[in-house]
Amino acid sequence: MGGKGFIGVFDSGYGGLTVLNELRKRLPQYDYIYLGDNARAPYGNRSFDVVHDFTLEAVRFLYNKGCRLVILACNTSSAKALRTIQQRHLKEMDPSFRVLGVIRPSTETIGSYSKTKHIGILGTDGTVHSNSYGIELNKFSQGIRLTQQACPMWVPLIESNKHISESGKAIIKEDFLSLIEKDPEIDIVLLACTHYPLIAPYLEEISNGRVRIISQGPIVADKLKDYLNRHKTLQHQISQKSECLFLTTERPEVFNKSAENFLSMKVNAEQVKIS
Ligand code: DGL
Repeated sequence: MGGKGFIGVFDSGYGGLTVLNELRKRLPQYDYIYLGDNARAPYGNRSFDVVHDFTLEAVRFLYNKGCRLVILACNTSSAKALRTIQQRHLKEMDPSFRVLGVIRPSTETIGSYSKTKHIGILGTDGTVHSNSYGIELNKFSQGIRLTQQACPMWVPLIESNKHISESGKAIIKEDFLSLIEKDPEIDIVLLACTHYPLIAPYLEEISNGRVRIISQGPIVADKLKDYLNRHKTLQHQISQKSECLFLTTERPEVFNKSAENFLSMKVNAEQVKIS
């Protein structure tokens, strides 16, 4: 594909907006396409094969829309689909097209944040049970004691806007406390699901200063900035009009309302079919 193109940002739903927000703060000059597969979210409890197939459909769709680079702003997709897509599918599609995930940049960075070297991870069932964080962290920060907690209800609660209800908050609190009680020496908790920064203020309230809560958006944005500086050919292929297009597989009215709440800007999403 010739000419300039976009940076694609993909998530099963709204979570990737927390990454997009940080990308647009640090790299405001570029053009972005955000795609949320809201109609099929959550991905967290789905099998490897299904997450792989859904993610590949999204990646192909974004490539055909003119993206030169796609960030899988979804830990579940990064854990279950990224490697196969990078190793098997990109070559057939276009060897100059790039797909990057969120786990590697997080594990490269997070070890240096902890004084006790005891780190807690909150993620979807899929992310936690893939042990991708355990495997990747071992490569970059040896000697870290990692404790993980799957929070299977959090994405469904956030996608349906029920995380603010009393029953939703009770579930969130129980999972959060169960993580930090498993290892009292944890000083850093990584929100290893891009939906979770949407409830970070509530998590801070529960933590009450006991642990530092880290969101991935700023880490991913810093790493992408660095990556583009090191990959000039790709950098020059991305158009720079500071535009952002929002696409969703669900009804746009629903997407717009949630996205506007989070991004504090007017959002006019388009509904698309990706399968
Ligand atoms: N934001 C996705 C993640 O980072 C949520 C996955 C899901 O849909 O369960 O894992």
